[in-house]
Amino acid sequence: MCGIVGYIGKAAAPPILINGLRRLEYRGYDSAGLAIIEEGKIIVAKAPGKVQSLSNKTRDEWPQERFANISLGIAHTRWATHGPPTEVNAHPHLDQAGNIALVHNGIIENYRSLRSKLEAKGHHFLSETDTEVLSHLIGDRYKGDLFQAVCDALHLIEGTFGIAVIAASEPNKIIVARRGSPIVIGIGEGETIIASDASAILAHTQRVIYLDDNDIAIITADGIDIRDLHNIPVNREISELEFDTGAAEKAGFAHFMLKEIHEQPDSLRNAIRGRLDFNLGSSVLSGMGSSPRDLAEINRVVLIGCGTSLHSGLIGEYAFEDLADIHAEVQQAAEFRYRNPIISRSDLVIAISQSGETADTLAAVREANQKGAFVMGLCNVVGSTIARETGRGIYLHAGPEISVASTKAFTCQVAVLLMMALKMGRSRRYSRQEGMDFARAIEAIPALVAQVIEQDHHIAQIAELYYQNEHAFFIGRGPMYPVALEGALKLKEISYIHAEGYHAAELKHGPIALLQKGTPVIALANDIPGKDKTLGNVEECRARGARILGIITSGDHEAAAAMDDVIEIPACHPLVATVPTAVALQLFAYHIARLRGCEIDQPRNLAKSVTVE
Ligand code: M6R
Repeated sequence: MCGIVGYIGKAAAPPILINGLRRLEYRGYDSAGLAIIEEGKIIVAKAPGKVQSLSNKTRDEWPQERFANISLGIAHTRWATHGPPTEVNAHPHLDQAGNIALVHNGIIENYRSLRSKLEAKGHHFLSETDTEVLSHLIGDRYKGDLFQAVCDALHLIEGTFGIAVIAASEPNKIIVARRGSPIVIGIGEGETIIASDASAILAHTQRVIYLDDNDIAIITADGIDIRDLHNIPVNREISELEFDTGAAEKAGFAHFMLKEIHEQPDSLRNAIRGRLDFNLGSSVLSGMGSSPRDLAEINRVVLIGCGTSLHSGLIGEYAFEDLADIHAEVQQAAEFRYRNPIISRSDLVIAISQSGETADTLAAVREANQKGAFVMGLCNVVGSTIARETGRGIYLHAGPEISVASTKAFTCQVAVLLMMALKMGRSRRYSRQEGMDFARAIEAIPALVAQVIEQDHHIAQIAELYYQNEHAFFIGRGPMYPVALEGALKLKEISYIHAEGYHAAELKHGPIALLQKGTPVIALANDIPGKDKTLGNVEECRARGARILGIITSGDHEAAAAMDDVIEIPACHPLVATVPTAVALQLFAYHIARLRGCEIDQPRNLAKSVTVE
């Protein structure tokens, strides 16, 4: 949520900051701003709306020649939490004296009481934000040493932060710090670039340092000095980013979402590569870090996540019970720590998160650790907080996912969960032959997905028939039930159509009352156990005038005859079929949103990673 970028080096900072913000815009896009230092003064530009508005503003108001020599600055793209997305609420925020500028991701929970205390000392606030309170607090503590003032202020803060701070009186440094909101430092040749996300750094360098919680660093053009909040130096390793700038660009596709949908055969190959053992009929997941004997001692699998990651967890639940004969359950990460869950040391808790930064999932990880469970992360972003705090787990290798609507991360999560269930199954009742067959079924996933993507044009034509509706229902049974939930989420978040996912049997317990002539029902009627019952539910919907789009198994004439329109999925194992079926629904949602003229990659009110509760 929100994006930070900062630069110090030899080049002109403003264009670098604007380009960095463009890379981060998917993290928040309701306003943006930047601050530089010119002739001993902080200069700020802010604009509500997208980074383009800020870019237009700086282009018109900041002539290039004037700022060619300014080689330090900080910038921010915002997802509003405290106060609406106006220019005055946009970051950076200044201190009372106008000497210090700050950009901030996260939430200062005790900002009200701090604000009252500062107001009593004569501070005057311009915005409604919690961030401005922190900038004033730093200013209040400033006695000529910015590092010390930031340290002192952060000791008084409750909540989360990733921050970058500059002071006009100390124009050769940026101070950055983190607690619960990521900060990455890119090490260039005579330049250093900091950001909340590595994608803003890639154009400059692939050598990065990830700050840990409660780290604070002094950044100069050619030096990085990292300490803890008690001023004790700490060592953080340098990592190499594994992707290049191409991975963070659209590569000729109209939207990142479409590009990421089309990338799935490759991302799935990357997620699966080297992880299947056809001889043992098992999977090789060293990140699970346990011997078969240890795995056999696990009594229960608890899957936690939010949104799309919760849906992949629901598919994992079917897989663990089916393959491994082990009790599995999914828990909504936001609820996990508040319901005081019963967790024991024989529980395996799998935290699923594309970004690895989702606040609710992270809080659930901490609770599960506290309760002594065996906790594992399933993350896409390497070095993310959840990946690091779980200490063990499996990376998805899906590559950077920029579109707010999660696509390739979801399918890779499912593929990895199937491999985990296979490994767990082989430490229990699953036979070698069954394991070998299932490993082959997983291996086929990228090709199955490619066959669905070949139907892109056909799915676009079907979308023409449905895009003018304002409501839609997705139904499925067994492992297709979570796919129905995911299909509905995809459609609603990018097209703003009111879409609901239901177990096919649930419809007649209430929601069927909403069906009218022409209401779209998307029925996941793949040829898997329960299909006949789903076809019965389809008849109930048809009898109420609904228009049925069936997702069916190729060549299933019986199912085709029950539908108004069909998308065919190649025949495969029922658990594996969840992946190509989800891809068909991703394309359906994409084309509907395109036909409705929606902002597909940056839907209203959303941001890529939700780092607030
Ligand atoms: O990064 P995470 O997987 O933890 O994110 C969880 C959800 O916020 C995310 O999946 C969200 O639901 C997506 N916008 C769905 O497309």
